[in-house]
Amino acid sequence: MLRIKNLCYKYPDGHEALKGINFSIKPQEKIALVGANGSGKSTLLLHIAGALKIQTGEIFFEGTPASPEELIKKTGLIFQDPDDQILMPSVLEDVAFSLIARGMKKSQALEKSLRLLESLGIEKLASRPPHKLSGGEKRMVSFAGVLAADPEVLLLDEPTAGLDPKARRRVINFLRDSKHTILLATHDLDMSLDVCSRAVILNQGRTACEGSLPDLFQNEKILEVNGLELPLRFACRD
Ligand SMILES: Nc1ncnc2c1ncn2[C@@H]1O[C@H](COP(=O)(O)OP(=O)(O)O)[C@@H](O)[C@H]1O
Ligand SMILES: [Mg+2]
Repeated sequence: MLRIKNLCYKYPDGHEALKGINFSIKPQEKIALVGANGSGKSTLLLHIAGALKIQTGEIFFEGTPASPEELIKKTGLIFQDPDDQILMPSVLEDVAFSLIARGMKKSQALEKSLRLLESLGIEKLASRPPHKLSGGEKRMVSFAGVLAADPEVLLLDEPTAGLDPKARRRVINFLRDSKHTILLATHDLDMSLDVCSRAVILNQGRTACEGSLPDLFQNEKILEVNGLELPLRFACRD
């Protein structure tokens, strides 16, 4: 469905954030994107979301090179910082925003959005002003806002950072049951094991390694050379 070929990117200050990214995502596949801080996960997601202009390399969508406009249409990115995503005066309107922008009738958009909030277990937040919510609540709301637009590929940047265990579990269950194609950038290897069947490891802007889960995350050596640690469920065994 998506193929990333030799993607390289230098920020305006000259910092080379991506130095050769290569991997593919099949339809409905769920892939964990892991790697130490600064390895290039967020920069890569911004490219796939069509938010950064490609300098070197290509992103193919269903076999043909994709323009930023196509990527914007096909993907939904959940940002690391939920404040970048929330725009409207109430949670329900915020979630409905992208639907109304795409021409859906307001009443229908609000109803669809309420169902989505229910499916995420946050319907009681519907009439609250988003800027007054806790960090974890904001994250759930930004999550709902992206899902409302029904993207084919969900791109998530650290979706469980700052969530309490119950909210984290809700996100994990939702992603596990989702029919979306998912690319999940995270430090939460335990979540990756619950949600994803494969992982791609980034190291200093390069795709260092990819493999099936859980096997890849039981390989302590590979994790260590890439600045990662065994997931808790494997580290705690006798
Ligand atoms: N706007 C920017 N300008 C310059 N360098 C940046 C910018 N954003 C990120 N970087 C650098 O690019 C590298 C990759 O960053 P990032 O994609 O955020 O990694 P990750 O999400 O894996 O932590 C890091 O070294 C980071 O400092
Ligand atoms: Mg990041």
